[in-house]
Amino acid sequence: MNITIITLDGPAGVGKTTVARLLADRLGISYLDTGAMFRSVAYTFGEGAWELPVDKLVPQLNRLDFDLEGVGGNSELLLNGYPLPPEIRSEEVGLWASHIARIPVVRDFLRRNQQAIGRTTPLVAEGRDMGSVVFPEARFKFFLDASIEVRAKRRFDQLRAMEMEEDLERIQAQIRIRDDQDRNRSVAPLRPAPDALIIDTGLTDVNGVLARILDVISRQS
Ligand code: C5P
Repeated sequence: MNITIITLDGPAGVGKTTVARLLADRLGISYLDTGAMFRSVAYTFGEGAWELPVDKLVPQLNRLDFDLEGVGGNSELLLNGYPLPPEIRSEEVGLWASHIARIPVVRDFLRRNQQAIGRTTPLVAEGRDMGSVVFPEARFKFFLDASIEVRAKRRFDQLRAMEMEEDLERIQAQIRIRDDQDRNRSVAPLRPAPDALIIDTGLTDVNGVLARILDVISRQS
């Protein structure tokens, strides 16, 4: 099989990370969590950094370098040579990431880093704009979707499993803000690439979603 890049996009809490990891495992290729890149930038720069002028942001961005090591579920993203801190996983930092993700210089910087990683290794690339903007030439593109209720409950369960305190209603409210912001921003808004296959993850479990994706890949390879 001549696979290079498989893109997996969709809104918050849709189950992209779980599916992307399993898919990368099954295919023996690396997995790139681009949401973690936006989260890391937001966390490193701190709350309110999205208010900074561009000339203050650019030198700070230029100090960051992301690398990807390993394959499948063992893929690890490193920031300046170090693993990403677990704190980036909170829903609050997710919201900060969504604020900072609206800024064109931040997106340009991360897009270049993501494309550089994609040039060196086959990838399952997960995010919001992988199929539409970052890897428009990717051979296989998937867009996962589900209702806000299903996604909020999934995020709630994930955060509980990580022993991070969260409240279901608050998560749902934060996801709603993020959805709105991610879908309506002027650069790289969250939407399926025209050639992406849309899969509703509220209708089937993770194994069903994975089987569907693997079936499409094997039939078209
Ligand atoms: O996927 P995750 O929930 O970790 O992403 C956090 C935030 O980063 C998203 O709400 C979105 O605003 C931003 N993001 C993005 N483009 C990507 C990945 C994430 O704008 N490719």
